[in-house]
Amino acid sequence: MKYENTLWSKVKRQMGSFSRLGTDRKLRQMSIEDRIKFVGHRYVVGAVNTSAWFEIGKLQFDFLLSNGLTPDKRFLDVACGALRLGQFMIPYLDKGHYHGLEGEKALVDGGLREEVPHPLIDLKAPQFYFNYEFDVPAEERFDFMIAQSLFTHLVPDDIRKCFAKLRRNASDDCKFFFTYGRGDSNGNPNQPSDPNVDWRYAFDEMASFAADGGWKARDIGHWYHPRGQQIAVAEPV
Ligand SMILES: C[S@@+](CC[C@H](N)C(=O)[O-])C[C@H]1O[C@@H](n2cnc3c(N)ncnc32)[C@H](O)[C@@H]1O
Repeated sequence: MKYENTLWSKVKRQMGSFSRLGTDRKLRQMSIEDRIKFVGHRYVVGAVNTSAWFEIGKLQFDFLLSNGLTPDKRFLDVACGALRLGQFMIPYLDKGHYHGLEGEKALVDGGLREEVPHPLIDLKAPQFYFNYEFDVPAEERFDFMIAQSLFTHLVPDDIRKCFAKLRRNASDDCKFFFTYGRGDSNGNPNQPSDPNVDWRYAFDEMASFAADGGWKARDIGHWYHPRGQQIAVAEPV
């Protein structure tokens, strides 16, 4: 089986005897397509082993259902990556109700190729938007959104941009769940947003980024995320 071993052992086989840090540095110099070819789309979105891949996908799915998501709701997976959540959500939602926004098309292509049963793609007709500007067609409205492990890699201006842009696509009673790394932002790196670097924020900072974009955020906190990311929800004001 392709994912029988941990993805990290596969990486080691492919990349030789570099340290994990050295390997990651080498990977970052490659195009996204080459990275996917060498180590697979799962590893590229941060799932270093099979359980991390499924666990964080199922965690999001169960969490959203327990917070009221039903098949008839319209859903946006913000920075959907390689469909770690989509593999569960696309089959569950009504046709045309799963929408994914992602900067890297190659990741979604990998997910559609290997994670979602092909007949379901025709049957459920998921929609995708590929850009780094959080642009979704103005006519689309969503009842639920989630950004899992996105704001953990973004500087404040990019988080503000995300909230402000997606506010236009929120239904009146939309719930936008988002994860963040809780901590002291004084220790954050002084560089542009980077998927391989972590940023931390206090909840009040996250709430103020959301407020600037027309949302009111409420902290939820611990939700059994294996890496300790916290979760909160924003609603339109
Ligand atoms: C750690 S991965 C998480 C992916 C997914 N949410 C999951 O649970 O597996 C972060 C994703 O955010 C995407 N990303 C980063 N900045 C983005 C932006 N400005 N717009 C859209 N996608 C972005 C990356 O390409 C990557 O797929």
